Amino acid sequence: MNATAYYPVVLDLHERRCVVLGTTALAEEKALGLRSAGATVVHLPRAFEPGDLVGAYLAIDASDDPEAQRAARAEADRERVLLNVADVTHQCDWIAPALVKRGPLQIAISTSGESPFLARALRERIETMLGEEWGPFTALMGRMRRRLRRAGVPGDVQQDAYRRLLRSSATAMLREGGADSAAALALTIEQSARNGGREAVGEVVLAGAGPGDPDLLTLGARAVLADADVVFHDALVGPDVLRLCGPRTRLVDVGKRAGRRSASQAAINEALIAAARAGDLVVRLKGGDPFLFGRGGEEVEALERAGVPVRVIPGVSAALAAPAAAGIPVTHRGVATSVAFVTGHRADGGPAALEDLATSVDTLVVLMPADLETIAGRLAAILGSDRPAAIVSQATTAGQRVVRAPIASIAAAARAAHLEPPSTLIVGNVVDVLAGIENLPATEREIFAGALASPV
Ligand SMILES: C[S@@+](CC[C@H](N)C(=O)[O-])C[C@H]1O[C@@H](n2cnc3c(N)ncnc32)[C@H](O)[C@@H]1O
Repeated sequence: MNATAYYPVVLDLHERRCVVLGTTALAEEKALGLRSAGATVVHLPRAFEPGDLVGAYLAIDASDDPEAQRAARAEADRERVLLNVADVTHQCDWIAPALVKRGPLQIAISTSGESPFLARALRERIETMLGEEWGPFTALMGRMRRRLRRAGVPGDVQQDAYRRLLRSSATAMLREGGADSAAALALTIEQSARNGGREAVGEVVLAGAGPGDPDLLTLGARAVLADADVVFHDALVGPDVLRLCGPRTRLVDVGKRAGRRSASQAAINEALIAAARAGDLVVRLKGGDPFLFGRGGEEVEALERAGVPVRVIPGVSAALAAPAAAGIPVTHRGVATSVAFVTGHRADGGPAALEDLATSVDTLVVLMPADLETIAGRLAAILGSDRPAAIVSQATTAGQRVVRAPIASIAAAARAAHLEPPSTLIVGNVVDVLAGIENLPATEREIFAGALASPV
């Protein structure tokens, strides 16, 4: 049998005669599974005997008896019964997938028999993603669908209503036991669909894209990206993160790139408002956290002034991720009890309060340290030229690089290393606490850990 040639189906076994052979725990489990699908199950707690499969629709031999299994196979062929011989793939007409079951929602995972382990592992992952609330939610969707179809609501209006229900807080309500609130919400959406109404105003979600590694997006940001109609993103948001957008999502790059100006803030605000007013789910995706040196606050103000619903999904800021990825614990006990985040983005080489800040906190994290020479010079003058410093560039991506040097020579060291932006400067004694431990990209880290684990 060709391992890649399976065709997935979901069978209606209601009152169909299904035969299960064997005394094993697996046989019990299979009989139970078939019964819960409504099948008429004949469980014979023994190995196959001639005639067992006559009149059966589906059969499972979980007997562990190779000779009897071969005889069962021959009878299944003669009687045209679809047979599964447990754990003997080449004798199977069909194989059972690993299953995530949430009420009427079933997600079947098959590796075409290549790796039951992988199918199970993926099932466990999906189970953590889709909680029990997806059972009643699927039923809610089903009820809405039947009623809208019966009422003759046009297809596109129906699709719009399903999309609104999927994006709504109904799953969250069900998760918290609020079945009545979820049903009421579904009814409101259904009523507006019956009145022919599409969603009048959509919503804008300001979401943090994290520092670069797509694993550092929050679950909330991932979910909203998958559902978005349109995503307006910064230049800092890389292709690995944008790949998390749904296949029908429109991507708009509003960021600044070498040789090209970014869209003005006013133009971005206008575009967000226009898209939301067209009924879209709009995501404004910003590097790191939207509110840390990200102008997210201004966008929220503009949207609220325009009466557009807006919510914010925080992100993992480079201000924390860059030091963490370089193995710099910004408030290491006994070394630092305070940390400040500051922007170095000023034509005159950093903010006026830089000196005050540097003397009042233990660790200083400087984002956008464009004029590093001037910033480092000012800090060296006030903190002493030996204060440890590090530049982390492209943190959490495959291109991550870390340069450590005393503050007086950090600019020269960074220049010599030809670091690529974006980069973050960290100044303080914490820089050297764990020096030498740096979060390597995953594959290297695993190879390194593997080398340690294996006997030398
Ligand atoms: C306009 S600010 C936006 C900060 C963002 N909102 C955040 O919370 O991370 C851009 C600065 O963030 C820092 N940055 C962003 N991504 C980074 C990364 N992957 N590695 C190092 N620094 C990064 C750099 O200092 C860059 O100049």
